[in-house]
Amino acid sequence: MDPIIQWVGGKKRLLNVLDLMLPNNYNTYFEPFLGGGALLYKLLPQNAKIYEININIYNLYINVKNNVSEIIETLHIYEQEYLNSENRKTYYLDKRTLYNSLDYSSLENGIKKTILLLFLNKTCFNAVYRENKKGGFNVPVGNMKNCKICNTEQLNNISNYLNNNNISIYNNDFTTFIESIKVNDFVYLDPPYYPLKNDSFVGYDKNGFNKEKHDELINILHILNEKKINFMLSNSNNTYFRDRLSMYNIYDVSIARTLNSNIADRKECICEILVTNYTLHKTQNINISQKIYSNLNKNDNVSVELKNKKHFLQSNNIDLKEINKCLYNFITLNKIKISINDKYVENNEYIITLLFN
Ligand SMILES: C[S@@+](CC[C@H](N)C(=O)[O-])C[C@H]1O[C@@H](n2cnc3c(N)ncnc32)[C@H](O)[C@@H]1O
Repeated sequence: MDPIIQWVGGKKRLLNVLDLMLPNNYNTYFEPFLGGGALLYKLLPQNAKIYEININIYNLYINVKNNVSEIIETLHIYEQEYLNSENRKTYYLDKRTLYNSLDYSSLENGIKKTILLLFLNKTCFNAVYRENKKGGFNVPVGNMKNCKICNTEQLNNISNYLNNNNISIYNNDFTTFIESIKVNDFVYLDPPYYPLKNDSFVGYDKNGFNKEKHDELINILHILNEKKINFMLSNSNNTYFRDRLSMYNIYDVSIARTLNSNIADRKECICEILVTNYTLHKTQNINISQKIYSNLNKNDNVSVELKNKKHFLQSNNIDLKEINKCLYNFITLNKIKISINDKYVENNEYIITLLFN
């Protein structure tokens, strides 16, 4: 399932990579910085505890869980009004003003705020969620083309998922999850990133995620490790975290977008890091043609199908290149070795073993 809102720093484009790096099994899934919840909605765990400090986002999930029919009904009306409006920009700005003027003093207000948030997220510039220091939504109007604003099926699916599984949603600071997590649970943390400017802390994040919060987060990772609880952390490629988490596995994630299909012409940048306190050993079924396979040399690039998507693979490290509408979304992970079974099977299928070390 896709997330219901788009989020700055949302993990949608990295889902293939995150999926490869999950531990093989766990009991309860914890996500203390939910945002759009891209990974949660991909994994759809039966048992999950999710945390979001932003009241508007928390309220969105609670209302989609409890009042989805009302949301769909009114969002359809907004959709029609917006698409038929002579001045879509004015319509958008009126809805934004209304959204910012409402508080949570009644259930009715809360539901209305959720409907407006969904409307604004679909019609605003770049379809992202961003607030000013006072918590007001401040994104300008988007390109005002015809667009689908009310995705009934998706809203119903997410509502059903939240209702029919054991999912607890908290409007708490992330630190509180440590009280209920147990051995064999798993936690994925995607916090506001550590600032990169000069690699030093330069000020306060609008969410109040200041240096003390980053230190608290690092401390919690050590506690999790002591308790033998598996964690995976996303963060910016910063030396502050790298130095303090050097005892764990740190993977560089490089993402480059370019129209150039020639790998040599690409500029690779390490954009993010992923940190885990567990090692992985996962197998994936990959289709690979006999012709390519029999000629494969160490360090050769081969084109393979991985989960129905086309990727390029190197024989001593993995080099995922996802072809998406003529754009090459290029993701590289370090510290990964692969081994390919030397048996060719009739249906052209090989087992590729990804070794994370
Ligand atoms: C990088 S975003 C998460 C994006 C998410 N992984 C996705 O796929 O959309 C970080 C989230 O943490 C939330 N947050 C910030 N400070 C927090 C805190 N102290 N406790 C819990 N959540 C917090 C922010 O509101 C934001 O939604």
